[in-house]
Amino acid sequence: MSRICLCLTASTLRENLGVLKLCRDNIDMAELRVDLLSASELDRLDRLADFPARCPVPLVLTIRLPEDGGHWGGENAVPGNVCPGSAAAGSAAAGRTLEEQREELFVHLLKKGGWAFVDLEEGRPLERAVSAARQSQTRIIRSLHHFGQAPEKPEAGFWADRLKNMASEDVIPKLAFYCRSSRDVLALAHIARLSSDVPEKVILGMGEYGMPTRILARRMGSLWTYAFHGDSLDDDSPGAKARPAAPGQLSARELDELYRFREITAQTPLFGLLGNPVSHSRSPRIHNTWFREQGLPGAYLAMRTDDVPAALETGRIWGMKGFSVTVPHKAKALELSVASGTLARRIGAANTLLAEGEGWRAENTDAPGFIAALVEALVLKEASALAGMKALVIGAGGAARAAVHALDEAGVKVIILNRTPEKARLLAGEVGARWGGLEQDSAALLVNGADIAVQTTSAGMAPMETVNPLPWWNFRNCRLAFDMVYAPEETVFLARARSLGIKTANGLSMLQYQAALQFDMFRKSAVTE
Ligand code: ATR
Repeated sequence: MSRICLCLTASTLRENLGVLKLCRDNIDMAELRVDLLSASELDRLDRLADFPARCPVPLVLTIRLPEDGGHWGGENAVPGNVCPGSAAAGSAAAGRTLEEQREELFVHLLKKGGWAFVDLEEGRPLERAVSAARQSQTRIIRSLHHFGQAPEKPEAGFWADRLKNMASEDVIPKLAFYCRSSRDVLALAHIARLSSDVPEKVILGMGEYGMPTRILARRMGSLWTYAFHGDSLDDDSPGAKARPAAPGQLSARELDELYRFREITAQTPLFGLLGNPVSHSRSPRIHNTWFREQGLPGAYLAMRTDDVPAALETGRIWGMKGFSVTVPHKAKALELSVASGTLARRIGAANTLLAEGEGWRAENTDAPGFIAALVEALVLKEASALAGMKALVIGAGGAARAAVHALDEAGVKVIILNRTPEKARLLAGEVGARWGGLEQDSAALLVNGADIAVQTTSAGMAPMETVNPLPWWNFRNCRLAFDMVYAPEETVFLARARSLGIKTANGLSMLQYQAALQFDMFRKSAVTE
């Protein structure tokens, strides 16, 4: 089992202890970031040395330099390049380098004992700290932080060998790369695979792209993952000011309760969301909650993706069983699939990929999810009751394609209006619909009104919250105004419909329905292998 290591990043020991108590149930160990403690806290060295004894979990001692992403010698250093801790210890600190002062603090704290691990950066000798650690039976982590470009795949072998080399010195190697693309994450997955014979190590990707490597620590062969105290607790709580110690870190509660991090084994079926952006997505909450509520093993994570083939290759290495696909990758997902459902092919886009042999099978649950949401909003018995209705669809992008084909299949007559009329024309041609632009001269197409109005564009969503794509239309004969946007809950388009007494629905129930259909596929693919 990989463990959850809480990073203690507050400026006082008291605050850090408060955070520890709050997170106790969600964590297995903690890392004290001494470099983030305030100068006055560092002046009370004995209290600091006693900290492990007051701590309910095994502790990592870390004093990070700025070049490794830390603050040692930063805000907490007193003028004159003197480490406050060393000054308090009564040593003649003046004139010595920050590194010498850091080592002195390491030695002092390690001699007192009680630390389970000490993090000493690779490439810095710190010989006295090493011997103090050995004497006090503190395991040494040798860490490498790389904020530049992550290595290309061919270099993965080099990094894997480097990890093996480090491990031969009886230390726990730790590799932390800043990931700026899906290819960087792929490189890390390769390094993890190639160093699978190093039993004790930590490999992680920083930044939003790297987040999956933190959740799938077990798949990366990492002993633990780092977490921060989440922001879900009220602001008055001790440690509320605690912050992520590194970019892309998740909260301990999220890892433990949402992702069930500690239950993820080599057999746990894994699913992901490919999109860009993905940070706003509700899908991890929806799918992980269903897995938990239904008592099924499974974890679902958002993977920010700028390169679909690279993300799929990473998914293969991690043994992932399926993906949800969102903007802007739905067409690409279909293109890269080895098999596909009829609906995905008709729509020309896939929102679901399922592992099939060596490749991926593409499906589309947006269309049936949309119809299910319409049926619910119109309080119909079944989809066949839609037949003969007339629908206005605003937009001609990927989301509109799903709506138009679903409506056509349900026997609904469609009118497509889009900012770029040419795109409306092309989509209309696929189903024999009428089409036009968003300007008022399209009013002629709507003289008899429309039973359903479907808004599929991003107008109404931040940063276009005030945009109504069809401000001139009076919703004539309209029974339902449906907006695929769900944040904000009510777009200006829906607000206008409501002010005219028209029934409205946002995109939330469609999201839920398409996710439920997808979950069903995920569940089946999880049991069939
Ligand atoms: P999606 O897959 O979410 O539909 P898309 O394929 O990029 O995304 O399509 C975006 C849709 O929103 C298009 O219909 C686009 O109109 P154009 O075809 O003219 O680009 C529409 N859209 C985006 N911004 C808009 C705006 N400010 N006003 C009206 N329509 C807009």
